[in-house]
Order: sequence, then C-alpha cells, then structure tokens
Amino acid sequence: MAGRIPQHFIDDLLSRIDIVDVIDSVVPLRKAGKNHQALCPFHEEKTPSFTVSQDKQFYHCFGCGANGTAISFLMEYSHMDFVEAVETLAAKAGLEVPREGGYVRKDDDRTELYELLELVIEYYRRQLREHPLATRAVEYLKGRGITGELAAKFELGFAPPGWDNLINALGKSDAAVQRLAAAGMLIKRDTGGYYDRFRDRVMFPIRDQRGRALGFGGRVLDEGTPKYLNSPETPVFHKGRELYGAYQARAASLDRLYVVEGYMDALALVQFGITHVVATLGTAVTRDHLERIFRLTSRVVFCFDGDEAGRQAAWRALETSLPLLNDGRSVYFRFMPEGDDPDSFVRRQGRVEFEADAGLVPLSDYLLNTLRGKFELGTREGRALFLDAVAPYLRSLPASALKRLLLRDVATLAAADPADLDALLASGGPAKSAPRPAAPARTPARGTDRTLVGQLIRLLLHRPELALLAPEPVELQGVSLPGTDFVQQLLELIRSNPGIRCATIVEHWRGSRYEGRLRELAAGSEALDAEDFDLEAEFQSIWREVQTRKGRQRRKELTQVERLSDLSEEGKAALRSLGRPPKVDAGE
Ligand code: UTP
Ligand code: MN
Repeated sequence: MAGRIPQHFIDDLLSRIDIVDVIDSVVPLRKAGKNHQALCPFHEEKTPSFTVSQDKQFYHCFGCGANGTAISFLMEYSHMDFVEAVETLAAKAGLEVPREGGYVRKDDDRTELYELLELVIEYYRRQLREHPLATRAVEYLKGRGITGELAAKFELGFAPPGWDNLINALGKSDAAVQRLAAAGMLIKRDTGGYYDRFRDRVMFPIRDQRGRALGFGGRVLDEGTPKYLNSPETPVFHKGRELYGAYQARAASLDRLYVVEGYMDALALVQFGITHVVATLGTAVTRDHLERIFRLTSRVVFCFDGDEAGRQAAWRALETSLPLLNDGRSVYFRFMPEGDDPDSFVRRQGRVEFEADAGLVPLSDYLLNTLRGKFELGTREGRALFLDAVAPYLRSLPASALKRLLLRDVATLAAADPADLDALLASGGPAKSAPRPAAPARTPARGTDRTLVGQLIRLLLHRPELALLAPEPVELQGVSLPGTDFVQQLLELIRSNPGIRCATIVEHWRGSRYEGRLRELAAGSEALDAEDFDLEAEFQSIWREVQTRKGRQRRKELTQVERLSDLSEEGKAALRSLGRPPKVDAGE
C-alpha cells in the first residue's frame, strides 16, 4: 500500500489551487457580489442557491445543504475518492503527490484487484458463450426473459461446475492464486490450497459508479442453496455500501431512481426501459447506500417485494432516510402487490403501470398513515400516544420545508397546538423510544454553551486571523464548555499557519468526528459577510463571555473546595482575585 498523503501537502495544495476554477470548469459560475453562484449541481432548482466563496475556498448550497472544499467537490460531484481527488488537483497544480514513508507508488493494491476482477468478468463471460455446459445457463436466462442484449449490457457470465476452473484459467502462479483469493474469488481449503468460490452459477458482475469491478453475485440454476452467493468483503467490495447497477444507471435520466432488492429485479426493470434503477445486494438500505444514491438523484423510489420482508425493508429504509432528507431531496415508496416483486410485476403489468405516479407513496404519507393507523385518534389518550410515537421520527428530520409541513399535519391530526408540538420535540419528548440516561441536574446552560463555542468556531473559520486577537492559548484551560478543547486546537493550528484559509482548516479534520459539524459551521456563515458586521467586536465579545464562564466555573470549583476546608493558600488567593460575581444566583 502507498503511504498516507502528508497533511502539509494538502495544506500546500489547497493554497495553490482555486476552488472557483475547479468548480467553474464543470459547473459554470457567475460572480455575485463577493461570491460566485450557480444552479446547484447537487439538487434540482430554478434559482441559484449554490455559492462558492473564494476567500474561504468553500462551497455551500442554501437549498440542499451540500458543502465542502475543492477536494470534497471532486469527491461528491465527480464521485472520486479522497486520493483521486487530491491527485487530480495536484495534477492541475503541477505537483507530484508525496507519500509518507518516502516512496511514491501510483497504483496501490486495490488497483491490482480491480484489474484482476476485470479479467475474471471477461473469463465468466467467455464461459457463458463457449463452455460446453453453458447451455443450461443460457436456457435459464432465456427462461427468465433476459435478452442477449441485456446480458451483454450487464456482462452476465457463467461459472462452470468444478472446483478449479478459475484457478486453472487465471491462477498460474502462487502469487496469482493469492491475488484471486484476495479478490474473494477463492475459498481456502482446511487442508491447504484453494478452490473456486463460484461453481455452476450465473454470474452478475458488480461494478461501482465509476465502472471499477468490485465483485460478483452468482445465482444457482435450480433450487439449490444459497440461491445467491455474493463476493465476501474484500478491500474493494463492501456489501453494505455497493449498489448493483449503479454503473449502468449513471447515464440514465435521473429525475428519479428506483431502488430494488434483487439482481433480477434490476435487470427486469432495465429490460422494460426503466434504466434508472439500482439494487441493494440483499442487505437493508444503509446510510452509505443513501449517500451514494443522493449523489445520483434527488428523488428516490424504494420498490421492494410485496411480502412481509419487503414491507419491513421499506420501513427500515424510511428510518434510514429521515436524517438525510434535506430540502430538495425526496423519497417515495412503490409498494408491490402481495406476492409480487418488481421483476414479476413489470413483466406482467408493463412499464407504464409500474411507473404510474398514482402508485407512488411519498415518505411523509407512508410515515403518517402507518402511525396514525395504530392509535385511537378519537380520544385524547390515543392522540397523546400518537404524538409520542411520531416525535422521534420528526426529530430525526433535518429542518426543511417538509418537516414544517409534517409538523403542521401532525398537529392537526392530534388536535394539538403546533407550538406545543415544537416544545414536545425540543424536550426530547416523553421517552417512549430508547430510554435516555437521566439528564444531569442543573445544566440549563448546556445548549447555549454549545452555541457559544460554535459561534467562536464559526468566526474563526470565516476569518482565521481573528485567532490573533485571542490571548495565548492557556486562557482556555480549565474551561469545560463542550468543544473548548477543539477551539484550543483550532487556535493553535491557525497561529502556526498564518494565512490559512477555511478550506484548509476543514481538511485538517477530514474523517474525524468533528468534520461534519465543522463543515456545517463553515457553510452557515453568510450573515457574517454583511458589510456592517463587525467581526472583531463579535469575536471579542464572545471571547469575553467564554472568559466570564471560565471565571464562574473556576470560582465554583474553588468554593466547593473551600467548603471542604481544604483550600491551599494559593487557592484562597486565587479565589480572592476572582472576586465575587456581581450577583450570586442561589444555585451557582
Ligand atoms: P430474492 O430472493 O427476493 O431475490 O432476494 P430475487 O432477485 O427475487 O431472486 P430470483 O428472482 O429468485 O432470482 C433478493 C436479493 O437478496 C440477495 C440477492 O442480492 C437477491 O437479489 N440474496 C438472496 C442473497 O444474497 N442470497 C440469497 O440466498 C438470497
Ligand atoms: Mn424475484
């Protein structure tokens, strides 16, 4: 494996490229005041809410919430991974990407696996055409209504019966066998040696959005088990992340994207001209799936089997989708009649019936109708239970127009005052869902403290040089507001990198638990751009407030120690120097 890309190189790279050029070359930007704007490439819209700040080297969409640096843009818009994004930008800037450990190696182990799997796809396809026993597989596919054209488009193949066909074809050396095993194509014998994982199966190659070969699904030709065998987890294949058909769907008009459960469901829809479809690989829909899906489309239609398992999968997909439903994104369900799957349905009823808008159930309808059906809304007690049940779902929705509309409808259904509903949601609601640990007593200021530190970080991201106004870092020690450790690190980073910009700061925390919040704070600072906004004064005032709290807290600690009559001379002096607060709250 190639070593890590050193952080100092990322810093350097970001200072040499300009996010405006990077984005403008694919999404033409228009200057609007200090910033640049365009119709957002991440969701559909009619008036531009996608904004690129040259100062901050950061983009942000008010509509869908997309945001990030030039690196994030390439990752999210052009579907690159981190290393590819960095390499692309480096090439633009004429830089070579160094690796920690001192050696540069362009292709890592994964590239080797992608290339090998390409050969495996080719091998299985040739077997479907040429192997003497392939007739059964061909007949099977014909029997399921798969045309030759479709089989070619999806590169279907045939793994012949036998334990070592693939090994004999592609495993000429020990090293080659090891690579086939690493690609998930072989199984190790207890007695040593390997045998072919896929035998006597129709093979469905799985590629990612960019067309790289990741692995396979293989279906038996009869009633054998397991019906489908999938590649195991490998360095390039993660079942819970990949979507079958994403590569073939990428070119389709993606005003909506169907998500189905089975390989055969995806193929059947494509055969009927519904090319905007992907399949999960027999797993529940994950957040990773959804993040990928929302990069392809803003309108998802889940279409699962018309049985109990399918309905359960649909409800779980609803739960997983809720937190990702920013403005501009929508989720629908296309329920199949009992006993049908998308494959059987589309073959019997055809495309028009399958795609009919009348069959689409919006997520919000599905949510409300399911929950309201479970309670006696004719009674106050029933309505209260309904509110308890619906609250956790509403809470997991991000602020959006949809959320506001839902709140209004929930209030109406429960004959509740919308304002009371807000309070119910804010308070965490009567705990019926997961029992929460009891909130520690007397932490009324917790929410405000968070915001205080958040405000501080937001200002620093917006205008990093404000860090110079803060006294030396020691000042924050002993302040146990949430996030002060982070502020401390942030101040140090800025001080040791004069001229650092927002994007570079955000990249420093890529992949850490701070990344998401940091991106949010970097994005939501437009108000700070106003001409008459005095950033320095604001920074000073927040800083003073932090100091005040620090003093209050220290005083409290010392007073407690004093009560235990254990206070050192030093401590007593400290307490005196802090003085008494102007007004002592009974509780403080
Ligand atoms: P289904 O059994 O609904 O598949 O499983 P299907 O596509 O309708 O199968 P056909 O029509 O009989 O060919 C849905 C998906 O679950 C995964 C596969 O990804 C399958 O497409 N699965 C199912 C497995 O991984 N292993 C199994 O044994 C069965
Ligand atoms: Mn089926």
